[in-house]
Amino acid sequence: MTYPAFEELVRTRRSVRSFSSEHIPDELISKILEAAAYAPSSWGGHPMEYIVIRDRDTMKKLAACKQMGAGPLGYGDAAIVPVIDRRNLELWVEDAAVASAYILLAAEYYGVGACWIHMKDRVGHTGSAEEDIRALLGIPEYYGILNAVSLGMPKDKGKKRSLTPVIHYGKF
Ligand SMILES: Cc1cc2nc3c(=O)[nH]c(=O)nc-3n(C[C@H](O)[C@H](O)[C@H](O)COP(=O)(O)O)c2cc1C
Repeated sequence: MTYPAFEELVRTRRSVRSFSSEHIPDELISKILEAAAYAPSSWGGHPMEYIVIRDRDTMKKLAACKQMGAGPLGYGDAAIVPVIDRRNLELWVEDAAVASAYILLAAEYYGVGACWIHMKDRVGHTGSAEEDIRALLGIPEYYGILNAVSLGMPKDKGKKRSLTPVIHYGKF
């Protein structure tokens, strides 16, 4: 397999919610998370940890932890839940977000479809989505949960777009 160059990679990445029946090799998931380990982090502590879920029953339960917009977690081929020990980490949300962006880009690089599924401050079925996930996966209270990422080999992918940055030179 040939991998895309950076410019092509960022321009073609899309959130993928439609997956083929092809299995993602465990090795590719490891490579995606190895890339995420290099994400910048507050205080340079590289604090992210990841729960990888490939068991269908648990994935469906994870999808059910949020009332809306979490479907791909249940029907994808794998799910990743980034977690972070937020004790003494004021910027844990930012750390988790940057690492998750690395996951999305690395997935694209390795030909894996991925989608950010937001969890923080979202409604679950018994309480907040975070509380439901914490109970499902046994995550300690002092770990923050910003989101999950659904993964699968892409079936349909959104079109390549032409996007331009809004830039203010020198002053707003
Ligand atoms: C902070 C954030 C929260 C998101 N939450 C969800 C979500 O809960 N469910 C979902 O299907 N997609 C979610 N997405 C994916 C966005 O819908 C997607 O990135 C956006 O529509 C742009 O499409 P693109 O990723 O293909 O460029 C989220 C993305 C971000 C960055």
